Amino acid sequence: MKKYNFNAGPSILPQEVIKQTAEAVIDFQGEGLSVLEISHRAKYFQPVMDEAEALVKELLNVPEGYRVLFLGGGASLQFCMVPFNMLEHKAAYLNTGVWSKKALKEAKGFGEAIEVAASTDSIPTDYEIPQDADYFHITTNNTIFGTEINDEKLAEIYKKKGNVPLVADMSSDILSRPIDVSQYDIIYGGAQKNLAPAGVTFVIIKESCLGKVSRYIPTMLNYQTHIDGGSMFNTPPVLPVYTAVLTLRWLKANGGVKWIEARNKAKADLLYKCLDESKLFMPTISKKEDRSRMNICFVFKPEYADLQDDFFKFATAKGMVGIKGHRLVGGFRASCYNAMDIEGVQALVDCIHEYEELKIKN
Ligand SMILES: Cc1ncc(COP(=O)(O)O)c(C=O)c1O
Repeated sequence: MKKYNFNAGPSILPQEVIKQTAEAVIDFQGEGLSVLEISHRAKYFQPVMDEAEALVKELLNVPEGYRVLFLGGGASLQFCMVPFNMLEHKAAYLNTGVWSKKALKEAKGFGEAIEVAASTDSIPTDYEIPQDADYFHITTNNTIFGTEINDEKLAEIYKKKGNVPLVADMSSDILSRPIDVSQYDIIYGGAQKNLAPAGVTFVIIKESCLGKVSRYIPTMLNYQTHIDGGSMFNTPPVLPVYTAVLTLRWLKANGGVKWIEARNKAKADLLYKCLDESKLFMPTISKKEDRSRMNICFVFKPEYADLQDDFFKFATAKGMVGIKGHRLVGGFRASCYNAMDIEGVQALVDCIHEYEELKIKN
């Protein structure tokens, strides 16, 4: 049976990327060695790291003066590295869910960290960004509750921030749409959604934003270390970086972020339309402009709530994987990352329609 992978992360990757990774596990680029057993110092690996950085720069139109790093530790380590490297006096955070809250908590250990606004079911706009903040931190996609800062709201933030450096956690929407990188000092995220298997973290950093804090920064937590070492100060996660290159090549060959944005929009429109029109289900995010295209959360209408387990079994039998909602939200979550094609989302829509027919008739 064909499986449709709606996992929230680690999550779906393009089939051809998985096949090419599997081939490289057996024989890396015809070298007679597995990618699992090559040294990152060997002549074969430097071009991989160089290509990873170059492709991110090309696909996201990254301006001069930025570096793209591939590190360990996940986005969660960035929650600490950002304030370690950037927070001297005060930082401001927009709290749009669990991950923003974790980032904010970590910053509080380094100085004054204020929450300018908070909401898990919409994207707040009624707040000011303190102009004396060392940086303003946002989470562009709320993976757990299913909200996203859309392009219009991002544009408002760019205006509102003035000269305050902007930092963004883009773990769950990186490369899903074009982004104006020049507005940010740091963009970071775990790569295990739109880019690679778990184990690598991407950081897009403006070099000139560093060197402004007076504290000692431990070597491994200092961005400058990794800039100077070209992401190879210590052993990088070789396999995930290689797979990231394959995913980036796939994205480029298909038309880049403009192409994927149109496809992501079409997928999200298809599923939200089905949910908005449904007699049994409803999306958890009512404000259409704040709905995530990446993580589409839905629940049964209250009068049908007892069907939850039954639908889960029904959908699983139809090949739907990973649709259980996060325990904080309940219900269902279909993560429709870049590698999910429109046919996959259509299969979920068909499954919902079939279930409705069955239940409404009986
Ligand atoms: C938006 C966001 N930030 C941070 C994280 C944490 O990432 P990691 O597990 O790589 O530390 C996640 C994980 O799902 C996420 O979705």
